[in-house]
Amino acid sequence: MTGQPYPTDAEIEHAAALLDAGELVAFPTETVYGLGGDAANPEAVARIYAAKGRPANHPVIVHLPPGADPEYWAAEWPESARKLVAAFWPGPLTLIVKRHPRIPDAVSGGQDSVGLRCPSHPVAQKLLAAFSARRGGHGGVAAPSANRFGHVSPTTAQHVRDEFGAAVHVLDGGASDVGIESTILDLSRGFPALLRPGHITPHDIARVLGEAPRLPDGSDATAPRASGTLKAHYAPSTPLALLPFEALEPLLCAARENGETVALVARASRARAWASAPGVHFVAAPEDPQVYARELYGLLRALDRANVTRILIEKLPETLDWIAVNDRLGRAAAAFEARE
Ligand code: TXA
Ligand code: MG
Repeated sequence: MTGQPYPTDAEIEHAAALLDAGELVAFPTETVYGLGGDAANPEAVARIYAAKGRPANHPVIVHLPPGADPEYWAAEWPESARKLVAAFWPGPLTLIVKRHPRIPDAVSGGQDSVGLRCPSHPVAQKLLAAFSARRGGHGGVAAPSANRFGHVSPTTAQHVRDEFGAAVHVLDGGASDVGIESTILDLSRGFPALLRPGHITPHDIARVLGEAPRLPDGSDATAPRASGTLKAHYAPSTPLALLPFEALEPLLCAARENGETVALVARASRARAWASAPGVHFVAAPEDPQVYARELYGLLRALDRANVTRILIEKLPETLDWIAVNDRLGRAAAAFEARE
């Protein structure tokens, strides 16, 4: 958290009024900042797509305040959803369920499902509650991450301003605690399937459901389409490579010979010889997956501004503990593999 005081009640009411009028408001959540619009207003949702430069067939998540009735938005509410909500809401878990016909097509990208999430950040909760109250307790806020399509998600209000300038009204709630987007679990097909790994892990889900979710290994051909599941996504502008340390060393040597400055993100214990080498902008990789997740997007944004020709990142262990960070780093690297 920064020292920034939270928005006042009057500022929250003002933001809720903007949403009510079909305008967009960027707001903090515990995962990343969202770019919100009234989920029941197709024009507001169209504004979100336009601001992000996002294709219209990508669905957005509907955010609800604590205590809201998720079944208002769903055509079916399975027992598994009930259990997961009891265990993890409010919190960084998005559930995909069959959508209620009252949901505009634009929200679900034309699919027959909808993503629902109840964030735990107090500023998000206040905004969602204030907006919902204006709709008789049934207001929902459609919100993708508040970044341009394909960019790194914002974890501070300043990141949102860096993306959109003054064009978007931003509520400042300090730095996001989790740092990467919510876990997305699909419950719309009769079995639990992880679409996007996040802070709530497959172990956490299995513990509650008594059944492990299918993992997003690319073989799940009937999975609903999700932009966060595109191979190349979440990318900085500076080329990024994700490789085991042994494979990074030749790249470091080549950069040194070319007189280039590169960023190196690796375990301090492995990178000792390179950490203080000229032409190397070294960052010690956090040893804990949750700390790495919290710092990841801020780090990528900072390295984008660090005047380096390449960002070299040491690959992480292929264990479930690291699945979410691996996923985001893998996609950031894939953006450049695709261009090569
Ligand atoms: O943590 C988060 O989830 C953040 C904060 C703001 O809540 N939101 C977020 O939204 O990451 P976005 O739009 O950047 O990513 C949401 C992902 C997208 O990949 C989208 O395609 C997928 O959720 N999604 C939303 N509704 C879906 C649906 N009905 N079926 C499949 N995927 C869906
Ligand atoms: Mg996003």
